[in-house]
Amino acid sequence: MNLGVCYYPEHWPRERWPLDAQHMREAGISIVRIAEFAWALMEPSQGKYDWTWLDEAIQVLVAEGHEIVLCTPTAAPPAWLIQSHPDILPVDEDGRRLRFGSRRHYCPNNPTFIKHTEKIVQAMAERYGNHPSVIGWQIDNEFACYIPRCYCDICAEKFREWLKEKYGTMETLNEAWGTNFWSQNYSGWAQIEPPNLTVAEPNPSHVLDYYRFFSDTWVAYQDIQISNLQSRISKHQFITHNIIASLTDIDYYDLAKNLDLISWDSYPTGYAEMGGDDLYFPGEIRPEYSYDLGDPMITGFFHSLTRGLKGAPFWIMEHQTGMINWSRTNTGVRPGALRLWTWQALASGAEAVVYFRWGASRFGLEQHHSGLRVHDGGPDVGYGDLLSMKSEQELMEKIGAEPLKASIALLVNYDDLWAINHQPHREGFNYFRYLFVFYRACQRLGLNVDLVSQEANWNEYKILLAPMAHLGFSQLAHKLSVFASQGGSVMLGIRSGFKTPSNVVTDQPLPGEFKDIVGAEVAQWHALPSGVSYPLQSEILSSCGEVTFWAESLIPEPGTNVLASYTNEPFANNAAITQKKLGKGLIYYFGIYPSLDQASTFVGYLASQHEIGLLDDLPPGLIAIARGDATLLFNFTDKALNTRIQGHDIQVAPRDLKIFNGAAL
Ligand code: GAL
Ligand code: ZN
Repeated sequence: MNLGVCYYPEHWPRERWPLDAQHMREAGISIVRIAEFAWALMEPSQGKYDWTWLDEAIQVLVAEGHEIVLCTPTAAPPAWLIQSHPDILPVDEDGRRLRFGSRRHYCPNNPTFIKHTEKIVQAMAERYGNHPSVIGWQIDNEFACYIPRCYCDICAEKFREWLKEKYGTMETLNEAWGTNFWSQNYSGWAQIEPPNLTVAEPNPSHVLDYYRFFSDTWVAYQDIQISNLQSRISKHQFITHNIIASLTDIDYYDLAKNLDLISWDSYPTGYAEMGGDDLYFPGEIRPEYSYDLGDPMITGFFHSLTRGLKGAPFWIMEHQTGMINWSRTNTGVRPGALRLWTWQALASGAEAVVYFRWGASRFGLEQHHSGLRVHDGGPDVGYGDLLSMKSEQELMEKIGAEPLKASIALLVNYDDLWAINHQPHREGFNYFRYLFVFYRACQRLGLNVDLVSQEANWNEYKILLAPMAHLGFSQLAHKLSVFASQGGSVMLGIRSGFKTPSNVVTDQPLPGEFKDIVGAEVAQWHALPSGVSYPLQSEILSSCGEVTFWAESLIPEPGTNVLASYTNEPFANNAAITQKKLGKGLIYYFGIYPSLDQASTFVGYLASQHEIGLLDDLPPGLIAIARGDATLLFNFTDKALNTRIQGHDIQVAPRDLKIFNGAAL
């Protein structure tokens, strides 16, 4: 397990660099990530570069044995560039041109900005592209953070080009978007604007295409940097980008494609506090974890998402070390937190964890944000954890080398996410929230689960959960049916196949393209107000048979089994869950929005059909991750927790982990 740290030599006097480098080494750190916001110091005025400070910083770090991840600094364009080309500044959804004074203040379609991007990337690559201790490059920093899409005139024109390329003719676009509605018919490309500042809500097909266009824009902007790097750097250096995994504005499968590896920035307490409301059901009682550990389900969900982007080990390019500054409570963090987070990341497939940041900053926005060292240079709590982890390095290596395998795949698709989140129909509907119920169901049963794309190779899996394949198309239906025919189990969930890829409703009986493979028709669907539930009868969900929030009424074709049905009007006697045999496998239509209990029962049922071993005795707060023959058990609560695995009683101490069937910790 490689451990690293984000370091900002430009924030400290040079005299301190050697001591910092030494303290890093003493804590077991071997990788240092630098320079992602230092454009103004590398190029203080146009075309005049100053590498002396960066050369020296690298030299000092390397002298202590560190390896360097160098970042392109394009997330922070310098003031001189903005002053001479203010049109680089992005325009937000409200049509306002934003100002200089923070970061990420650029439009990725702006040709002047792209020209300057290429120059600084080329200059850096030429200087450090063959440096033996520079092991890799991070491009930019957290694309789409703060301002996911720009709405300037340049972007509007690029959008028109993108549409021309996609649709070819006006007629095709008008047809695809259904522009007869509200007289939105276009007779020339120049009439099309980005879908912001409309009087009432814009056409959803128009919106979805703008989301796609802008996701492609980020990928294209990244590709420009990749090609400038690739032609100049040596083979031993990788190229990555650090995503915010919880952010949903970029199709990360596309973004990851041309990178050598993918990394994400993990801030467990922040994501639990700021993102939890989007992932848990409104009013849902959340498990009681230690207050300073975040929520391991949320952290784990994003580890799995990131791992699935390339189907490969990933990096944590920034990891929380102590309190953060952008959440609500910004809680203090106690000893043991960093260790537990690091182990969870490792168990979930991270091959390096780079901590954010070395020393807490005395100036700028993040003065209240912890690092491994406090403002006066002394050690902070996280540093203590690192020292305590030194003796575990060997064990970490061992566990990291064990295979990480999942039998269950959870299908993620950003087009579906954008379409659903733009038109949730019922308040509270959110794509990731729905998927998160199934993710938690798997975790609760101790089952590893991979979050994968529609394009991924699914051969390794036995069960494929497609909770919301909203935009149906025949190739996907075919791929799902092949997976089932070969012996797999496929679940399609509510609202699947409702629309076509251009975000208009299918003209076929529901679930549209999937109707033939599931062997049932969705006759009606109801969004249910709070307090209303439809009772179910079911052999497999016997103990938890009420549907809330969203219910679909299914009519099975002959030969399709009914696993759950409604007992009362308005859907009395119609099916809620169906099962159809397809070749050697089975395909299910799951017509309800499940509670965690219902989802767990269903996933448990599928797993037992495939004879996949379950840990059905995991108390809330205990997370299990299987690596090879070992099972790692993490206790994220403040009290000791007990479980039973293969006949063995196991107790895991508070805020601690235990490895079963491997070396004991
Ligand atoms: C990240 C960002 C870092 C730093 C950090 C603070 O999103 O990439 O530069 O701002 O948040 O938590
Ligand atoms: Zn723009």
